Amino acid sequence: MIKLLKRFWQRLSRPSKAAAGLVLLMGFLGGLLFWGAFNTGMEATNTEAFCSSCHEPIVKEIRETIHYANRSGVRAICSDCHVPHDWTDKIVRKVQASKELVFHFLGTIDTEEKFKARRGHLAHREWQRMKENNSQECRNCHQFDYMDFSEQGPRAVRLHSTALASGDKTCVDCHKGIAHKLPDMSNIEGWH
Ligand code: HEC
Ligand code: HEC
Ligand code: HEC
Ligand code: HEC
Repeated sequence: MIKLLKRFWQRLSRPSKAAAGLVLLMGFLGGLLFWGAFNTGMEATNTEAFCSSCHEPIVKEIRETIHYANRSGVRAICSDCHVPHDWTDKIVRKVQASKELVFHFLGTIDTEEKFKARRGHLAHREWQRMKENNSQECRNCHQFDYMDFSEQGPRAVRLHSTALASGDKTCVDCHKGIAHKLPDMSNIEGWH
């Protein structure tokens, strides 16, 4: 392959070498531009405004929770909990999320009734994802090593110092519905 390219390059006359050089340079610049736009796009699709364009009801609900307003004034936005920080994981999640576009056009959750009916299934999928990554997104803000047990309530201390510390359970095993209303849990059997 390399040999072939070399021979090709040698065969080129001077002006066409210049032209080929130009094409290469443009390809390189184009690549840079694409890279920039790509990463900007990755950021733009992390904003709450972007998520709310399809998840309006959820955005309204969250205003009543501790992750929207609290005494410390630190907010968690959608992407803090749902999009991994690690670059490769982020790309993977974005590619998976592009299927949301398809479902958007299929209209799987575009009315209140449909959303209610499908909510359990979606919540379950998110719990599964967080169990698999040991609730990494929660841990980006809440670090076990810096939890001050003397500041926590007795129930919290009892469970954090046992099941959480030993790794038997992860955050979302015990903390469900901390940012959203819980779905109807009665037909949990039907979820997959
Ligand atoms: C183009 C519309 C659209 C946008 C924008 C969008 N979503 Fe979704 N999202 C959907 C649809 C539709 C579903 C339901 C998919 C289904 O029915 O299986 C969904 C499902 C979800 C789920 C459920 C779990 C799962 O794996 O399906 C989560 C969590 C989620 N979205 C988070 C977000 C976050 C966070 C953002 C912003 C970073 C966002 N979405 C932006 C349309 C969208
Ligand atoms: C962007 C940072 C951030 C992320 C991500 C985050 N949290 Fe929080 N969380 C906070 C802040 C800030 C508070 C309020 C702290 C305060 O005022 O004491 C809080 C409060 C809480 C509380 C206390 C609730 C109460 O009523 O006192 C729980 C439980 C909690 N978070 C669990 C979670 C779980 C589980 C996740 C992952 C699904 C998560 N958090 C993700 C920042 C975050
Ligand atoms: C084995 C169950 C369990 C696990 C796992 C667990 N928690 Fe908790 N957590 C609790 C209980 C129970 C409380 C007390 C809730 C209450 O009394 O309302 C609590 C309370 C909290 C509080 C509030 C503390 C206070 O006393 O004000 C925060 C913040 C919190 N958990 C974060 C987390 C995070 C982040 C993780 C994962 C790193 C996690 N928890 C894992 C059971 C658990
Ligand atoms: C503090 C972490 C946190 C924040 C912030 C957060 N979510 Fe979630 N989200 C979760 C968890 C955990 C679940 C799994 C279900 C549950 O426990 O409520 C979930 C579930 C979902 C689902 C599945 C359906 C459902 O209701 O369970 C969608 C869709 C979703 N989130 C979208 C969003 C959007 C849009 C935002 C921003 C407005 C957002 N989330 C902000 C933690 C968060």
